[in-house]
Amino acid sequence: MTKVLDIKANEKNFIELKEYIDTVKGVNGALMQVLHTAQDIFGYLPIEVQKFIASELDVPLAEVYGVATFYTQFAIEPKGKHKIGVCLGTACYVKSSQLIMDKLSKELNIKVGQTTADNLFTLEATRCLGCCGLAPVMMIDQDVYGKLEPKKIPEILEKYR
Ligand code: FES
Repeated sequence: MTKVLDIKANEKNFIELKEYIDTVKGVNGALMQVLHTAQDIFGYLPIEVQKFIASELDVPLAEVYGVATFYTQFAIEPKGKHKIGVCLGTACYVKSSQLIMDKLSKELNIKVGQTTADNLFTLEATRCLGCCGLAPVMMIDQDVYGKLEPKKIPEILEKYR
């Protein structure tokens, strides 16, 4: 579900972004720098911010959107308070990490890449987390959970609610 940014409540943020844009307008690579700054200010890059950047830099919205969605460091949806990363690397995958993902998806009622309606959790797939001996593995923020089974998921989620 796409959330709409409250422009009035973010007026100060737009002013801050405009001030930054004015310092890099016309500079090579300005769009990347502006997107980074916008993400720092707003936490993500909603469509309203992309439109503002397109207009201020005088570039097509399609170009702004293209860059914002191409690079994984940019997010066009807000992230939840807790980020869940399920490892889909080879070692975890053969130990059925997809079942862990499916269980999380069902418990949270969201798909991979989405955030719960209460903004508490964002569910993501990750590459190898470097602890294959614990496969299947997931991380919630900085906490690592290994040797997972789908039935353990509700209890783990409860700690973050
Ligand atoms: S493949 Fe999952 S931790 Fe390495």
